[in-house]
Amino acid sequence: LNGFLAGLYSTAGPVADPPPALKIAVLYASQSGTAESLARKVTKDLKEKGHIVSLISLEGYTPAALFAERYAILVASTYGEGDAPDAVQPFYEQLCLEHFPCCGNLNYAVLALGDSSYEHFCKFGKDLDNKLAALGGVRLADRVDCDVDLDASFAQWKTAVYACLDETIAAHPARTMRSSSAVSVTPVIPAASSDTDELPPTPAHNRTNPYLAPLVDKRPLTHEVSSKLTLHLAFNISDSSVTYEAGDACGVIPQNDLHSVGEILHRLNFSSQVPVQLPRSGTTTLHDALLNHLQITRLTRKMIEAYVTIGKQTAQCHTLSALLAPEQQAHLEKYTYDRGLIDLLHDYPNILHDPADLVAMLPNLSPRLYSISSSPYAHVGEIHTTVAVVRYHSHNRDRGGVCSTLLADRVPTGDRLPIYIQPNKKFRLPKDTDAPVIMIGPGTGIAPFRSFLHQRRVLGHTGRNWLFFGERSATTDFLYQDELQSMCSDGHLTRLDLAFSRDQDRKIYVQDRMLEQAATFYAWLEEGASIYVCGDASRMAKDVESTLHAIVEQQAALSREGATEYISQLKDQNRYHRDVY
Ligand code: 2AM
Repeated sequence: LNGFLAGLYSTAGPVADPPPALKIAVLYASQSGTAESLARKVTKDLKEKGHIVSLISLEGYTPAALFAERYAILVASTYGEGDAPDAVQPFYEQLCLEHFPCCGNLNYAVLALGDSSYEHFCKFGKDLDNKLAALGGVRLADRVDCDVDLDASFAQWKTAVYACLDETIAAHPARTMRSSSAVSVTPVIPAASSDTDELPPTPAHNRTNPYLAPLVDKRPLTHEVSSKLTLHLAFNISDSSVTYEAGDACGVIPQNDLHSVGEILHRLNFSSQVPVQLPRSGTTTLHDALLNHLQITRLTRKMIEAYVTIGKQTAQCHTLSALLAPEQQAHLEKYTYDRGLIDLLHDYPNILHDPADLVAMLPNLSPRLYSISSSPYAHVGEIHTTVAVVRYHSHNRDRGGVCSTLLADRVPTGDRLPIYIQPNKKFRLPKDTDAPVIMIGPGTGIAPFRSFLHQRRVLGHTGRNWLFFGERSATTDFLYQDELQSMCSDGHLTRLDLAFSRDQDRKIYVQDRMLEQAATFYAWLEEGASIYVCGDASRMAKDVESTLHAIVEQQAALSREGATEYISQLKDQNRYHRDVY
């Protein structure tokens, strides 16, 4: 990983009595690059003012990361029928999920970009601004909606935002941070002041400044004959300032597979050492860009649009171009579903002749988040994660998840990996240590519950614990079997209900076990239990939610609406938590 690390960890320069600073995220949602270029200007201004600024695209970003920020400046373009730019839609969809936590600490300002000749002028910027306010964010300055001729509005908005930031510093001089402008990756220096009651402590490491953690343990949790491989991984953090709480996630900065990079370079006949410009990291070699910075495995609509634009004069791009028509959406999805960049280059060859075009069409390689399966109190100095290794075969190739195959195949124990903590403040054990908890976590959804169980035991919490776990087969996929069974035998786990889906003709899932135990389940709720669900969002979490409704309806003899009200009260009381992905 040497080239990787060298690229990530170029820091320099002494700290020479710098001005007080705030840590600010400047985020942009760009379709054609205008929002990005304005965000860049804001970043430059704020850095010159001495602030610690990260410039980040909302593409691949998560609401959880936004809510972990204290100050965020957002520049948002509107696209199509008042929509978010394509690449930002996943972020916005996630933000709009009703169960999403409130962003209590966030101070933000939105600049909305649009074109008043369209019906939905600046709609995405307006929606984003309103959504953040509805979730509890505090506006630093009022939103400004910019038309195509945006210079004057942009200047007016900037002035207002900078004035608010200056006021914040003036109000809290002792609580601001000190920064060094000579550090080339985003520097984050922990607050020197102990008076941090208003400004929360800044994590010493984050996605732009990760910690290089030694991998100290890696072992399969599944049997070698299983149809799946799930790994237990342990990182040593004892020599670092990394801290976390049970319920948090661990972000891993991945690296692409060297072989895939070589294959792409070979197919395009590009030199690996040719210099290219990356918006976030500046000049690097094409090889480094493809290995460490860009997403090369999956295909997106935006990538295909860019490819078609580059190859518009060529006959072979005509069929590809037809796939972009709105009525061809299903066919486009089918094409991109299990193919990657290499397939596009193979199926539609001789389009790319300039490495800069390749770099410009590829999205950034995003960090991968894994729920932490250790407890900081029970596994001191370590972070554990539970990772399902994604592998599949399609279109004559063996393929896999970028990060899970990196962890499984390319990083031996003893090597270091860049990691950071992604706090998940809405997924915490109940404050009342006597309160019962019901945890539903099939597959790798077990991760935070292993953390909770160890933590409750080591801290002597007396609340009862009930775990629902499911996997394919008891003999091959019973993750953490020994630990869970021993917690059952000594009574720490009051109940363990197991659903091995493929051990009988009929599929049995965790929600079937919940229903079998409906009376007891409801009794626990009435006794104040909190419910936690972790794992697959697309099917499991939805099915578990409808089973929960059914249990409440049946056991409390309530109507459908009555059960919905009961569950919404659980949410209001902070007793129903989901960490689903
Ligand atoms: P399956 O793969 O046999 O369908 C962890 O992946 C476990 O979750 C597996 O046993 C898997 O079963 C199961 N699973 C799949 N779909 C599910 C759903 N909708 N609800 C609950 N569990 C599900």
